[in-house]
Amino acid sequence: MTTFHERVFSGVQPTGNLHLGNYLGAITKFVALQNTHECLYCVVDLHAITVAQDPAVLKSNIREVTAAFIAAGIDPKAHIVFNQSQVAEHAELAWIFNCVARMGWLNRMTQFKEKAGKDRENASVGLYAYPTLMAADILIYRATHVPVGEDQKQHLELARDIAQKFNNDFAQSIANCGFGEAFFPQPEPLIQGPATRVMSLRDGSKKMSKSDPSDYSRLNLSDDADAIAQKIRKAKTDPEALPSELEGLASRPEADNLVGIYAALADKTKEDVLREFGGAQFSGFKAALVDLAVVKLGPIGAEMKRIQTDHAYIDAVLKDGADRARIIAAENMRAVKDILGFVR
Ligand code: TYM
Repeated sequence: MTTFHERVFSGVQPTGNLHLGNYLGAITKFVALQNTHECLYCVVDLHAITVAQDPAVLKSNIREVTAAFIAAGIDPKAHIVFNQSQVAEHAELAWIFNCVARMGWLNRMTQFKEKAGKDRENASVGLYAYPTLMAADILIYRATHVPVGEDQKQHLELARDIAQKFNNDFAQSIANCGFGEAFFPQPEPLIQGPATRVMSLRDGSKKMSKSDPSDYSRLNLSDDADAIAQKIRKAKTDPEALPSELEGLASRPEADNLVGIYAALADKTKEDVLREFGGAQFSGFKAALVDLAVVKLGPIGAEMKRIQTDHAYIDAVLKDGADRARIIAAENMRAVKDILGFVR
């Protein structure tokens, strides 16, 4: 068995309205992993253009996600923070993976079906091939661990399938080039904790998302204390008091969601939260959740807004990160070319 150096990679799309789901499902995990791993965190702008983008808005969103990373506690000196389009090897490896992945695999991707909707004929080829670029993002660094929310699980499975097929198809050449039994690791998804799938505040059956037309469906990282309080107070609930046991949340998606959010913000388990609030009415629980959310999210939102205005600083962070990422990516790309038999 080839053993791989442990490395973390993850990405966030610069498509506006960074929300609590992105924060609890992904960004808080990014922050924690810095203590134990070498990490690369990427603003995936090439992914954003799989659907139409306004260039001026895209640029501002790239800076906003970068500012959110830093405001949340990611250290761009100790680790690597960059935007995808500055490291051309992502797109280069994605092409090679387009020739490794099978149509049948991509046809099963639920995210494409959801995003393309009924008008599939009119979706971009990029939207369809999105998962092969995502596999390339991870594997160009031969990353071993990928913190993501639950919705990215299927894409991670595809990345593992691509890595394995590449390793199998080119086994002989990989060995001949001196890489032993496998060139790519099987990247492991890290999907843990009480908020891996944060749901809409208006509808417990729908995921909290950047594109929901109702701003009341999500807590944006840029929301101030008043907005946070209003949205939580208006969040959909049911008439029952909170249960004391986890089983009592089973058919109550809105209650389950708010308990999960509270648990993640307080760094507790859902069981802990129910032990504390079991039997309480929503009015009391929501008031406690407002206080907690304002304390935890308020300062991050304010810091994000402050950093975001300093374009020179953010652009320098991204350039420096890209320069360091490119060194790793270029070395791995040279190896891939050798394995494939390209002349270089
Ligand atoms: P994106 O930009 O949609 O979301 C960024 C991260 O936030 C997580 N997330 C959620 N977690 C919990 N509850 C939610 N409601 C919620 N909504 C979003 C996502 O799971 C993700 O971790 N394809 C990716 C970006 C990407 C990527 C990568 C990720 C591109 N290349 C390589 C990992 C590795 C995406 O669209 O994330």
